[in-house]
Amino acid sequence: MPSQPRVRVAGGPLSGPHALLRAGVVWEVLREALAQRARAAGRARLDVLDLGGGSGRFAVPVAGLGHHVTVVEPSPDALFALERRAAEEGVADRVRGVQGDTQDMLDVAGREGFDMVLCHGVLEQVEDPAVALRSVVGALRRTGGTLSLLAAGVGGAVLSRALAGRFTEARHALEDPAGRWGEADPVPHRFAVAELTSLVTGAGLVPGEVHGVRVFADLVPGSLVDTEPDALAELIRLETEAAARPAFQAIAGQLHVLARLPDDQ
Ligand SMILES: C[S@@+](CC[C@H](N)C(=O)[O-])C[C@H]1O[C@@H](n2cnc3c(N)ncnc32)[C@H](O)[C@@H]1O
Repeated sequence: MPSQPRVRVAGGPLSGPHALLRAGVVWEVLREALAQRARAAGRARLDVLDLGGGSGRFAVPVAGLGHHVTVVEPSPDALFALERRAAEEGVADRVRGVQGDTQDMLDVAGREGFDMVLCHGVLEQVEDPAVALRSVVGALRRTGGTLSLLAAGVGGAVLSRALAGRFTEARHALEDPAGRWGEADPVPHRFAVAELTSLVTGAGLVPGEVHGVRVFADLVPGSLVDTEPDALAELIRLETEAAARPAFQAIAGQLHVLARLPDDQ
């Protein structure tokens, strides 16, 4: 029997091993941050906003911890899938889906009402990341409001293009200020750690822990992971070990930053 990965996860959408490989590091950091915020706030149930929350990959497990989650999402299809997922996981009463985006999020979800905002996989999609982040900050409670930011990493894109033999595209991504590998690249922005933390600081937040996500997951051929006993569990351990090390953050497919409002708000 292959041994199970030691990364602890709640049930639901993050419980499968492949999902763990892609999102286990973020989930562990997020779960600990929510627990800390709840202790500091003296409330077991926090108000969480998941901006661009899609079909609830994070929103539903966060609701599974007992928190109230508002998902602001532009896609009606994703909102429909979210509703179904929340019902299947028995958390429909704690998940609210609202149609909206970075521009109107404060109108549809309200200002300063959330203990934590998740902004996962969104900042790389928007025209002006600095403006989007300022909206995000406007949704945070002035006391202890915390941001969980997950965005595409430029180093991971350079490495994956190079390993696929697309050397011109790899060099383009390396030199392009937005980290794009060419005109056909569907992602408008990718970030280095310093860029992301500087955006966070510019939005008035204090950056905290940084983790590299999908350092190896997107590079290792699936055949190596699915055919060798224990390989997936070992790869998950490797991802977890590498995540906090700056050398590996520099080549990660995604970067995760926790940040909070300063105490004197
Ligand atoms: C890569 S998916 C990430 C979904 C989810 N946050 C997750 O981590 O699984 C990006 C999501 O952002 C949404 N999105 C795209 N542009 C957006 C915008 N300007 N404001 C808010 N959400 C946006 C998309 O509809 C999509 O659901």
